[in-house]
Amino acid sequence: MSLLICIPDTMKPESLRFALVSLDSELQIEIGPENVQIPSAVEFAVVWNHPEGILLNYPNLKAISSYGHGADGLLSDKKLPESVPLVRLADETMAEWMSEYLLAVVLLERRQLLAYAKNPGFSEWGTTARHPGNNISILGLGFLGRAAAKVFLQLSFKVAGWSRTLKQVDGVSCFSGKDGLTDMLKETDYLINLLPHTSETHNLLNTDTLKELKRGAYLINAGRGQTLVDEDLIPLLDDGQLSGACLDVFRTEPLPSKHPFRKHNKILITPHNSSATPADSVAPQILENYRRATSGCQLLNLVDLEHGY
Ligand code: GLV
Repeated sequence: MSLLICIPDTMKPESLRFALVSLDSELQIEIGPENVQIPSAVEFAVVWNHPEGILLNYPNLKAISSYGHGADGLLSDKKLPESVPLVRLADETMAEWMSEYLLAVVLLERRQLLAYAKNPGFSEWGTTARHPGNNISILGLGFLGRAAAKVFLQLSFKVAGWSRTLKQVDGVSCFSGKDGLTDMLKETDYLINLLPHTSETHNLLNTDTLKELKRGAYLINAGRGQTLVDEDLIPLLDDGQLSGACLDVFRTEPLPSKHPFRKHNKILITPHNSSATPADSVAPQILENYRRATSGCQLLNLVDLEHGY
């Protein structure tokens, strides 16, 4: 029996193989579908941006794992083998890296540091240039959202969070539903999107919702590009409803070189690297799910097919 790794070279499949074999030297691992000698031996697959339909080639597949927190890439494959369970990752290091990114962006904006990087004379000597707004709102209170909330609470930000079902998180004002979203946005200085892409979150951030924010609020999108309506963002930045936006995820990735976001001076762009998948850190949970799948046990971090994440 074997485990197939089908992830892009940029995600370093060899590092994952090394991390898995360091935990269990008996593991049979294939990297890339082109190297699989015996398709019937493949019982578990770890994938990211895999070619559509390839998972149908393995008749004895027991489970498929996304190589990230998101399952949308996996679910976008319309030719997945029926009734093979899907799992995704939930990893502390990935959550720490995400929190670090969000904190860095919020503090850069709060203290206007990018403005000084562009123009050292941005404010008069000795004057303060600090946004007074203290309210952070996080869309998505899953593993990543709750970890980020904890970090902001430690720095005395006021933290709110919105999720599909109402959650209870220590120190966080929790909201859900359409009215809950409006109530939260009205008080928001920094809006952080960490929602997965589902039919419910598609285009959720549009002119109507972003107009509910406090005037001058700052948007960070580190969830999925499809949640934000691209055409709606620029007029909101131009008229000052939003003071700026930091975008890590996009409808098309890499972001096309001619995309209007690239030229806008209030938009900070990063290349979908707010977090990453560290092989050493995630290998134990991949191995655990491999063992569970091959011995018929309950899997960890199962994808909820009804809700799409
Ligand atoms: C990254 O986008 C992830 O889903 O982990």
